[in-house]
Amino acid sequence: MSRFRHMRESDLDAVLKVERGAYSHPWSEASVRNCLGNSQDSCWVLLSPEEPEEIIGHAICSVIFDEGHVLNLCIARDWQQQGFGRLLLDHIHDQLQKEGAEKIFLEVRSGNRAAYELYLSRGYRQVGVRKNYYPAAEGREDALVLQRGGLELME
Ligand SMILES: CC(C)(COP(=O)(O)OP(=O)(O)OC[C@H]1O[C@@H](n2cnc3c(N)ncnc32)[C@H](O)[C@@H]1OP(=O)(O)O)[C@@H](O)C(=O)NCCC(=O)NCCS
Repeated sequence: MSRFRHMRESDLDAVLKVERGAYSHPWSEASVRNCLGNSQDSCWVLLSPEEPEEIIGHAICSVIFDEGHVLNLCIARDWQQQGFGRLLLDHIHDQLQKEGAEKIFLEVRSGNRAAYELYLSRGYRQVGVRKNYYPAAEGREDALVLQRGGLELME
């Protein structure tokens, strides 16, 4: 059985290893540390179903008034495509809702098919594009802005 807990400073090495193994453009140590030290951000780790202390994923989110933001969601490469991304995302939704979020926003690289499909399957809809937002292997890549909840008036 996998379980979640709040990220600790002592998790940083393991989290950064997962991060660097999974992303083409991983977050820096300073960025993760910054979130850990920011009371508005909530940082989580997902533990292996086999080794209770092994970190196999992490997520960072925040709430500002009634708006939740998923800032990072990452599953270790060897653990991908086994349902853990969806499990972690569902956990983050529960947390954001407990903290008062009525709608949730996130940004995803336009070429990140796996994440985009995951988010669509959990009720997100595209509400915008930030052109050339991310650095890419060659040039820049657009960010798609996705929203979950709070869209009823627009539909
Ligand atoms: C995106 C990510 C979190 C998905 O995690 P995961 O554990 O592999 O995903 P799951 O096994 O829970 O799959 C959930 C859904 O995601 C989609 N998905 C996952 N991998 C996919 C792939 N390679 N291609 C297309 N869709 C995919 C599917 O819709 C899948 O649902 P299904 O299994 O019912 O078809 C993971 O690929 C990851 O960590 N990537 C690197 C970091 C990243 O890009 N994070 C998102 C930043 S916005």
